[in-house]
Amino acid sequence: MTCKILVTSALPYANGAIHLGHLVEYIQTDIWTRFQKMRGNECWYVCADDTHGTPIMLRAEKEGITPEALIARVHAEHARDFAGFHVAFDNYHTTHSDETRHYSEDIYAKLQAAGLIEVRSIEQYYDPVKAMFLPDRFIKGECPKCGTKDQYGDACESCGAAYAPTELKNPYSAVSGAQPVLKSSDHYFFKLSDPRCQEFLRRATREVCKAQPEAINKLQEWLGEPGENKLTDWDISRDAPYFGFEIPGAPGKFFYVWLDAPIGYMGSFKNFCAKKGLDFDEFWGKDSKAELYHFIGKDILYFHALFWPAELEHAGYRIPTGVFAHGFLTVDGAKMSKSRGTFITAESYLTQGLNPEWLRYYFAAKLNGTMEDIDLNLDDFTQRVNSDLVGKYINIASRAAGFIAKRFDGKLVAGHLAETFRKELPGLAEAAEEIAGHYEGRDTARALRRVMALADQINQYVDKNQPWVLAKQEGQEARLHEVCSLLINAFRLLTIYLKPVLPKLAQRAEEFLNVAPLHWADAGHLLPPTQLINGYEHLMQRIDPKQIEALIAANRESLEPTAAPAAQVAVSPAPTIDPHSPQRHAQHQQATEDKAQGQAMPAAQHISIDDFAKVDLRIARIADAQHVEGADKLIRLTLDLGAGGTRNVFAGIKSAYDPALLVGRLTVMVANLAPRKMKFGMSEGMVLAASDADGKSPGLFLLSPDSGAQPGMKVK
Ligand code: 2FM
Ligand code: ZN
Repeated sequence: MTCKILVTSALPYANGAIHLGHLVEYIQTDIWTRFQKMRGNECWYVCADDTHGTPIMLRAEKEGITPEALIARVHAEHARDFAGFHVAFDNYHTTHSDETRHYSEDIYAKLQAAGLIEVRSIEQYYDPVKAMFLPDRFIKGECPKCGTKDQYGDACESCGAAYAPTELKNPYSAVSGAQPVLKSSDHYFFKLSDPRCQEFLRRATREVCKAQPEAINKLQEWLGEPGENKLTDWDISRDAPYFGFEIPGAPGKFFYVWLDAPIGYMGSFKNFCAKKGLDFDEFWGKDSKAELYHFIGKDILYFHALFWPAELEHAGYRIPTGVFAHGFLTVDGAKMSKSRGTFITAESYLTQGLNPEWLRYYFAAKLNGTMEDIDLNLDDFTQRVNSDLVGKYINIASRAAGFIAKRFDGKLVAGHLAETFRKELPGLAEAAEEIAGHYEGRDTARALRRVMALADQINQYVDKNQPWVLAKQEGQEARLHEVCSLLINAFRLLTIYLKPVLPKLAQRAEEFLNVAPLHWADAGHLLPPTQLINGYEHLMQRIDPKQIEALIAANRESLEPTAAPAAQVAVSPAPTIDPHSPQRHAQHQQATEDKAQGQAMPAAQHISIDDFAKVDLRIARIADAQHVEGADKLIRLTLDLGAGGTRNVFAGIKSAYDPALLVGRLTVMVANLAPRKMKFGMSEGMVLAASDADGKSPGLFLLSPDSGAQPGMKVK
């Protein structure tokens, strides 16, 4: 029986690049939906950009463009990156759409009619200069626990403490630098604490919505015992100025993330229905028989398994069949870090020429359907891809194809092979259902272990039967033909089993085998007698460890520019506090949304004149400027400080300057910056250049003094 299935991945924020941490989820979901499609189910995979919020509004303002222009640009970048990793959404939409607006308003109106919306006045930090309320990530100050400076308003990156922004010492606005003031305003709340929500969620968690056992435990902990009222009401509004949908009947109030981002799942599907002629209600109506699955990161479990089903239930829609949470990605056992070069963007991975299917395979080999974090160990990555995919799987085709082409005109044997195949390669075809079960349960690690065990078995068969020896022996022609035909069939079966993970490789294998796109049911039969196969062309390259080194260098270099020190922040997708705690989720509302943007925002905290005097700024003459071999962004500058001698500085200004044209000009440098050892040598200072906060946007302008300034002069 075929099923109707709708699948989603979490909507990525439209203010940052897709990185490998994101890709864990999209690759996992893509594998699962491809598998469902191969099984013959009517399975649709939809997603969208999550486009609303303060960070997007401020970023657009900073770039001097409209939020609409910003989200359109990011949409194109995200779509490009996902396509590059073969993530095949059936629809990739935007939450800034008529469809999402329609369902946000509709759900809100129904919740209001059900008495589940309440208006309350709350006090929040307000930036008096910018005239706006500040999200937690835009308030900085000293950690109330450990005193570290410049910490965000929700959690300390130094000691991991979580707190309210009002607890920060010496708070300041990261937008204007001003001291924020507390101000009251009316906010709209969804009453998750209402007994109807509590009762419904207890029942749903027990009986309806599938989730991993560890997720169910967490949900039960959040829900508490019957009679306990542990769920708190959820703030669903934000005040103008805000980029989003204004709440009907509430001028100046806008829907906040959980009342429009997940509704983006519906919006994207509605948009798809119009293109495809599908019936929206068949998937989202109260009595829908279709299945609905959300793949998410474990940090947003609270919203997807409690808040979201309660919202849907009380607005008269179906609730999810399952919510599947995954863990976070670490690289070489640590949080992804820009300074280490392990904060790898999807774009850099592709532009460095790495094969996206290597990563798909590696993630799949690690994902087991639980919420455990997964580690991308770069040595293991190289070793596993080379040994499993190239050494074991591809090898089977390459060992048999040459003989079929040269000795048998590309044709397999004329007789039926089913019996011989079962005898000589036992268990290979029979493994199909077991492997399917592992895919179904999202235990791709187990599925791939099983497939690789089969590949080992086939390679042992090759070694035992030695086609290259048969080829030299007289009278062994028929046996050679049989062995190679069996091997081609074995390769075809493995291709079916690997196809959800390696769609492009499978497509090329299908061309080689000269067959129509393979489905799971095709594992039930072999290729027909005398099947004509095409000439074999190498299907996959090995990973050269140098490619990994270059990838890390490319991602590290993007931070090396000494003209953009603000970017030298380690960024982690992994939370420093318990990702399951409701407290974390309370923060998540603003924290994750604001994270990327928060980093791009230079903090304009006031400093004293003494603080400023600590920086030794000097006029320097660029005595020499050279390209740095192996670095895309750097120029090596020899700076003449007059009596202060010369300094060697690596500056990330190559995108804007030709070294030859720099020689002789004057600029300004920080002369007392601690020397820093870089891959290409020691950097002994920093030249000053103006640029956008992220240092990447077009335009980088080296500072110059007025004429008359001399090398070595102090700048103050
Ligand atoms: O946490 C996030 O990444 C948000 N952009 C929300 C994604 S899930 C959803 F509901 F859209
Ligand atoms: Zn702290």
